[in-house]
Amino acid sequence: VIYMRKKGDVYGAHRVIEPVGYLPQQAIKLDNSLPIYSNEILIDVEYLLITSTAFRRIKEQCHSDISKMKHEFTRIVDEKGKFQDPVTGSGGMLTGTIREIGVSIQNKVNVKKGDKIATLVSLSLTPLKIKEIQEINLNTGHLKIEGYALLFEKGLCVKLPNDLPENLAVALMDIAGAPAMTAKTVVMGQNVIVFGAGKAGLLCLYEAMKRVGPTGKVICVEYDSNKVELVKTLNLAHQVIQIDATKPLEVLERVKEALGGDLADVSINCVNVPDTEMATIISTKDSGIIYFFSMSTTFSKAALGAEGAGKSVKMLIGNGYTEGHAELAFQIMRENEKLKEAFKKYFV
Ligand SMILES: NC(=O)c1ccc[n+]([C@@H]2O[C@H](COP(=O)([O-])OP(=O)(O)OC[C@H]3O[C@@H](n4cnc5c(N)ncnc54)[C@H](OP(=O)(O)O)[C@@H]3O)[C@@H](O)[C@H]2O)c1
Repeated sequence: VIYMRKKGDVYGAHRVIEPVGYLPQQAIKLDNSLPIYSNEILIDVEYLLITSTAFRRIKEQCHSDISKMKHEFTRIVDEKGKFQDPVTGSGGMLTGTIREIGVSIQNKVNVKKGDKIATLVSLSLTPLKIKEIQEINLNTGHLKIEGYALLFEKGLCVKLPNDLPENLAVALMDIAGAPAMTAKTVVMGQNVIVFGAGKAGLLCLYEAMKRVGPTGKVICVEYDSNKVELVKTLNLAHQVIQIDATKPLEVLERVKEALGGDLADVSINCVNVPDTEMATIISTKDSGIIYFFSMSTTFSKAALGAEGAGKSVKMLIGNGYTEGHAELAFQIMRENEKLKEAFKKYFV
C-alpha cells in the first residue's frame, strides 16, 4: 500500500513554499517531496524538453560545456523544486511514465499507471526532483534524466501515441492549440487567411481547408519562398500570397485581389515576428474573428490598432490549450502522410 497525503489544492498552491498564497508558476520555491497528495500524479521523468529561450541562455552562460550545464540545471531545480530559468522565467515540458495516480483523481483522469505521457503544463510550475542528468542534447535542448515530477489535479498531460515518433508527437503538442482553435472557429463557406506557414500555420491551413468546404476560400500569407512552395505542393491553400506580413497596405491589396474584393471571415496569425497585427486586422471583415496565436503579438498594438482602423473585429488570444488539441494534431498527421513527412523533415 502506498501512503498518500490528504487532498491538495486543485491548482497546486499546497506545494508552494515561498511566497505563501501564490500559485506554483509565480512561486520562487516549490515543495517537491514525496509521498504525493491524493489528487496528484507521480511521473518517472525520462526527458526534460527545455524551452529554447531558457536552453539558449544556459548554454551560452556555460559556453556549451556539458558538465557545467548539468551542474546549472541541477542547481536551479534543487533550489526551486522546479525548472524555471531564473533569468527568462521560462520552463519547458517533460516526457515520462506514470508511476502513481492519487486515489481521489483516479477516475477523473484519462491516463493510467504505466502510460508514457508528455505534460501539457509548463515545467515552470511542475514540482520536479532530478537525481541525475544523463545526457544533454545541445541541438534540441532535451535533457535525459533520472528523476520524478508531480502533476496537480488540473495538471494536463497527454498519452504519447504508439504510431507516431515521439519527437514528432512532442513537436506537435507545442503548437496543437492553433489547429484545434481553427477547427472550432472556421465553418463552411468562409474566407480564411492564415499568416505564417510554419509549424502552427501548416496545421491551421490543413484544418481550415477541411472546414471551409467547397464553397470557402483559404489564403496563406507567408514570405519565405520554401514555405510558399511547400504550401502549394501540399495543396494546403487555394492561394498563397508571398509577402512580408509587416506591410499592412500591401497585404490588404493582395488579399482583396485574391478574394475578389472581399475580406476574411477568420484570420489566424501564426508568424514568429512582431508588427503583423495591422495586416491581420485590416484584412479581416468587421464582423470577422481574428485568432492571434503568435507570441509576437502585442496586445496594445492589436487593441489600439483595431480601434484606429475602426474595426469591430473579435480578437482571440492564442491559448496554448483547448480540449482535445493534442489528439487533433496527432490525427492530422495520420490523415495526411505528405504533411507528416514535411513536418518531420522541417521541424523535428
Ligand atoms: N499561443 C500559444 O500558446 C503558442 C504556442 C506555441 C507557439 N506559439 C507561437 O506561435 C507562433 C508560430 O509558431 P511556429 O512554431 O509555427 O513558428 P514557425 O514554425 O517559426 O513559423 C512562423 C512562420 O512565419 C513566417 N514569417 C516570419 N515572418 C514573416 C513575415 N513578416 N511575413 C510572413 N510570414 C512570416 C516564418 O517564415 P521563416 O521560417 O522564413 O521565418 C515561418 O514560416 C510563434 O510566435 C510562437 O511563439 C504560440
